Amino acid sequence: MRRKIVVGNWKMNKNYWQAVELIESLLAYTETRDLKGLEVLIAPAYPFLHYAYQSTKDTKVQVVAQDISAYESGAYTGEVSADMIRSTGVQTVIIGHSERRKYHGEGAQLLGEKIDSALANHLEVIYCMGETLAARRAKAQFEVAKKQLMDVLRPLNRDQMQQICIAYEPVWAIGTGETATAEQAQEMHRYIRQLIADRFDPETAARVPLLYGGSLRPENAALLCAQPDVDGGLMGGAALRAEQFIGVIEAWLTQIPSPAKRGCRSSPGMD
Ligand code: PGA
Repeated sequence: MRRKIVVGNWKMNKNYWQAVELIESLLAYTETRDLKGLEVLIAPAYPFLHYAYQSTKDTKVQVVAQDISAYESGAYTGEVSADMIRSTGVQTVIIGHSERRKYHGEGAQLLGEKIDSALANHLEVIYCMGETLAARRAKAQFEVAKKQLMDVLRPLNRDQMQQICIAYEPVWAIGTGETATAEQAQEMHRYIRQLIADRFDPETAARVPLLYGGSLRPENAALLCAQPDVDGGLMGGAALRAEQFIGVIEAWLTQIPSPAKRGCRSSPGMD
């Protein structure tokens, strides 16, 4: 079975005390809940990564960085390197979020360098991609997806591809309250998986987790996660409130069969 992953991207929200409170609420919930293998990830801002990592060590919550520098080290004021992130214990980084593309002018060349740096420093990558409203209106979403994906995936080898998750986040759905329909998400996810299969092979493509992002909420999560090629979600707004975050996790759990139904052998004497 493919990995199932729910990520909360906090963006530039939560000060230290608010971060502590949210992490404590999530830990209280996950401690007692059978997550059926669903991976729960949070992406706080840089200053709180070390604290977040330490306070979630050996729990069911994992910590992710929101970005990294393309540079290894040196005179790059304000930048944070992959090695610095890795040294906090954090093992995953988001790269290519549409807000980085839009507000910081990040494009294919830079994103490719960031991915290289992440992989060289043993960080797993959640690579974000997705079309703008104008592109969707022009029916250019598949063309955009192919370019955003292939620009960065083409140079990778199969082993490196195992370290990548893809998050499809249509820009028109991010923070707007407008979500892609389950059909639109599935259609794009299937297309992305096919592109990966064409570039690598079907086995590699079958293993890559494909996450949906864009106004994901407890109310729409169940329908989205029921799609065969939607393996998880990346959420912004809903991740800022424990009850909403938990609501999305709960929606996802309804779609994950229990171990018995998955065909795992039960222990003797158990049904
Ligand atoms: P949103 O953000 O859930 O607030 O739409 C998603 C994202 O940017 O990852």
